[in-house]
Amino acid sequence: MVDYILGAESDQFTENLSRLCGVEAKWVKIRLFPDSEVCPRIQNPEGLKGASVVLVFRAESGRIAPSRYLMLYYLTAMNLKEHGVSEVIAVIPYLPYCRQDKRFLPGEPVSLRYVAQLLEASGVDCIVTVSSHVMGTETPLQDYFSVPAIDLDGFKPLAEYLKSMGRSYSNAVVIAPDEKSLRWAEEVRMEINAARAMYIKKTRDLVTGEISITAPGEDLSGLEVIIVDDIASTGGTLVRAASYARSRGASRISLCFIHPVLIGEALPKLVAASDEVIATDTIRSEVSRATVTKLVASTLSRI
Ligand code: R5P
Repeated sequence: MVDYILGAESDQFTENLSRLCGVEAKWVKIRLFPDSEVCPRIQNPEGLKGASVVLVFRAESGRIAPSRYLMLYYLTAMNLKEHGVSEVIAVIPYLPYCRQDKRFLPGEPVSLRYVAQLLEASGVDCIVTVSSHVMGTETPLQDYFSVPAIDLDGFKPLAEYLKSMGRSYSNAVVIAPDEKSLRWAEEVRMEINAARAMYIKKTRDLVTGEISITAPGEDLSGLEVIIVDDIASTGGTLVRAASYARSRGASRISLCFIHPVLIGEALPKLVAASDEVIATDTIRSEVSRATVTKLVASTLSRI
């Protein structure tokens, strides 16, 4: 049983989670020093002794600073434990560094494993995240952690949002921008009763990061296309997939993804390439229309 939800001052996500869990919210005041060092100050920490606390922060789209974001958890969890908190459950809606889950090139770090060790060293007792980049792979998130690590499926709230729009998708094709994401496209297709799901083949150059697409010659004339992915970072993957769909005759294109990292000009590019851009609120953004808070709250109620 959780006693408090602790998050950054007046973040809507924390407020919603607190309401859905029926648990009081407490606040952390985040101060940034001129050199960008972060100082999260727990408000009234005395009352937290012996408590079980959910700690939740959100990164901001376009200005995401993954290392600083992780330091927020590290510094606050450490501090909570020093103030006598008995249990810290870290809800990390977007877990950074997951894409570097192995050494792709000799000498590279296995960043995800090191990040897991960092979080554990801060005293975190359990991790709850949403669609980490290793979800559905041979090495699930739990394999990187010794404490419980719960990886929730963010495509469910995304599909729920699509359904809530009251449109019929019986003529729609759900497209995954790579083979790995086909299972998520299939999941969304089933949830929204779309006609079919397919993937396009994407190859990323390990050194330059350049993406090339080898697309099948599908005829998408007059069809609605929903392209789904876990992350939009530079937006390159989704823009290429959208331009493929457009070239095959798609009449309407929706870009749906879980984590709106959206660096630089990514969002205007996605908007220009499609008819609609929909993300979840794992990261705060202007396209965060679907919420993962209900999913997180129902998970917390079972811990
Ligand atoms: C890759 O494996 C991921 O699923 C995303 O497709 C990728 O991270 C998106 O990155 P970007 O928006 O920079 O193309």
